[in-house]
Amino acid sequence: MTGLFITFEGIDGAGKSTHLGALAHAFEAQGRRVTLTREPGGTPLAEKLRALVLNDAMDPLCEALLMFAARRDHLQQVIEPALTRGDVVLCDRFTDATFAYQGHGRGFDLAVLSTLEGWVQNTGQGVRQPDLTLWFDLPPTVAAARLAHARTPDRFESQSAAFFERVAAGYAARQQADPKRFARIAADQTPEQVAQSARRALVERAWLPPEA
Ligand code: TMP
Repeated sequence: MTGLFITFEGIDGAGKSTHLGALAHAFEAQGRRVTLTREPGGTPLAEKLRALVLNDAMDPLCEALLMFAARRDHLQQVIEPALTRGDVVLCDRFTDATFAYQGHGRGFDLAVLSTLEGWVQNTGQGVRQPDLTLWFDLPPTVAAARLAHARTPDRFESQSAAFFERVAAGYAARQQADPKRFARIAADQTPEQVAQSARRALVERAWLPPEA
């Protein structure tokens, strides 16, 4: 069976993480083996880098390099072996987040990020990219209202409304640059409707059967 690499993206508060588990169960119900993982993180080393990048002050270059360092380890230790086994890899964030947050949010050079993307995601047979990215698109004002009730914010969650406007624009730019890879999920619906939209994107690709 061919592996599938599906990433989940969106600004903080968009609610994407809620839907990973249900989709994992849906694939498992089809007899698929699922690897559920996240970025930054997913390996012991990358989780240590996550703790640093979410909590310690640093400049945008340092931040971008740590994101890609964590990604390199994650790809080598977890994602590539899982895809070779034929797993469905469901990954909470990937490189689109680096373009959206470090690129558009922080204003870091997009050309440098593209170079790093090419190096870090090079498998020897090409540059690894997701087969599909579910982009949970929510107006930043709605996301901010949801986050106001959330846990203590990290270095990203505590950013300004203007930052999240830029991050949202960054996701839109990534989608426009590669529309076939993206499914935009309108995240300003009920959780049930959002779950249905996410599932529909997989049914449309014949990766899951229509719900009975
Ligand atoms: P999470 O809250 O979805 O687990 O993501 C952690 C934070 O890390 C989130 O605020 C977005 C940020 N992030 C980046 O800034 N760049 C990246 O490349 C990734 C993967 C996450």
